[in-house]
Amino acid sequence: MAKKLWEKNIDVNPEIERFTVGRDRELDLLLARYDILGSIAHSTMLESIGMLTTEEMTELHDELRNIYSTVEEGTFIIEEGVEDVHSQVELILTRKLGDTGKKIHSGRSRNDQVLVDLKLFTRNELKGVCEGVKSLFDALIEQSDWHRDVLMPGYTHLQVAMPSSFGLWFGAYAESLADDMLFLQAAYKMCNRNPLGSAAGYGSSFPLNRTMTTELLGFDSMNYNVVYAQMGRGKCEKNVAYALASVAGTLAKLAFDACMFNSQNFGFVKLPAECTTGSSIMPHKKNPDVFELLRAKCNRLQALPNDILLIMNNLPVGYFRDLQIIKELFLPAFESINDCLQMATYIIRRIEVNKEIFDDSRYDAMFSVEEVNRLAAEGMPFRDAYKKVGLDIEAGTFTPNKAIRHTHEGSIGNLCNKEITALMENIYNNIEFGKAEEAERALLKR
Ligand code: ARG
Repeated sequence: MAKKLWEKNIDVNPEIERFTVGRDRELDLLLARYDILGSIAHSTMLESIGMLTTEEMTELHDELRNIYSTVEEGTFIIEEGVEDVHSQVELILTRKLGDTGKKIHSGRSRNDQVLVDLKLFTRNELKGVCEGVKSLFDALIEQSDWHRDVLMPGYTHLQVAMPSSFGLWFGAYAESLADDMLFLQAAYKMCNRNPLGSAAGYGSSFPLNRTMTTELLGFDSMNYNVVYAQMGRGKCEKNVAYALASVAGTLAKLAFDACMFNSQNFGFVKLPAECTTGSSIMPHKKNPDVFELLRAKCNRLQALPNDILLIMNNLPVGYFRDLQIIKELFLPAFESINDCLQMATYIIRRIEVNKEIFDDSRYDAMFSVEEVNRLAAEGMPFRDAYKKVGLDIEAGTFTPNKAIRHTHEGSIGNLCNKEITALMENIYNNIEFGKAEEAERALLKR
């Protein structure tokens, strides 16, 4: 049996095959379960328009669900000589069911198959990322609440500036994640539209029922215009990558702070020994490698939208094989971001903060603005108060009053963590994951 879907009577050149298949046989394994779900929906629809008999559809469904089980067990492979997951699934169906297997490709193309696979894959992965972001958010808010009264220096230009607090520091990253969640929500919505039925990118002369496959697969709607549906290849990945990059930006910055504040020269936070690594030569070392790797991985993730953009940017309308390469960058990104989110959450829950930072007189000048404000509140014009405190500092006669009082919204004494949590939950709880899961479960039920 020919292993290429398009093989006619000319042998395939092995070098050309190697180059064109690329890493598909390995990467497409990540799409296998979604390819099967798409095929169950497609064959159900084919039966409804009389392109398959009910018996043929049932046979196909049984076999597709068997293949799904092999994916779950981890025994599904894409054989040598088979190009991609779409070919492998059709090959298995045809080996098992003969002509019935050969009928499933009516009214579709691998172009819309891979499109639908990617949408289903991404939809599912985004759910995991959102959960990971929410867990880290919860850990940050918890730390912020616990340490609401522990002061730390705030910097501008990396010069000691004004009093800040651990409540503010942890809470800032929580609020940053709430904004990142907005991107994830938009990415989820954009990706939750059905491209199936666009076939090679121009539809089909069969009377396909795209509304039906949209409902069966639990999509919010379809990508209506078949040409646009195909244009979504690359665009969807790029926009999702922007959302992942937004999360990665928050994580990379947090990681940098943590590395810096953990250094002996700052000594603001301490990682528990189990969260550090040692040196082969310096016996005293407890290095923050986890945060360093997190920073590097997240910096790389921030390049992802650009990497994708550079591949697809100058393509005109219609499918091109260029798009295949995007999978190499895009599919592994989820494992990477999830890993980073998980490690960040683990460490943030365990990080210890220094409650005695301000016992050190090097931070005294940081209370200058507090003193200026105190004098101004007593009636001295701000500019005069500013000058007086400045001269006191120069003369070495300034004594800081460390009992500070910041009361406005979002400041040391009024973190607004409840409001920040409401902001996050309002976004997170409005991403509707349930519909997709229910639809997928229904397709798999025998
Ligand atoms: N492996 C291909 C991809 O990822 C599948 C689609 C192949 N379509 C084609 N016209 N060659 O794009």
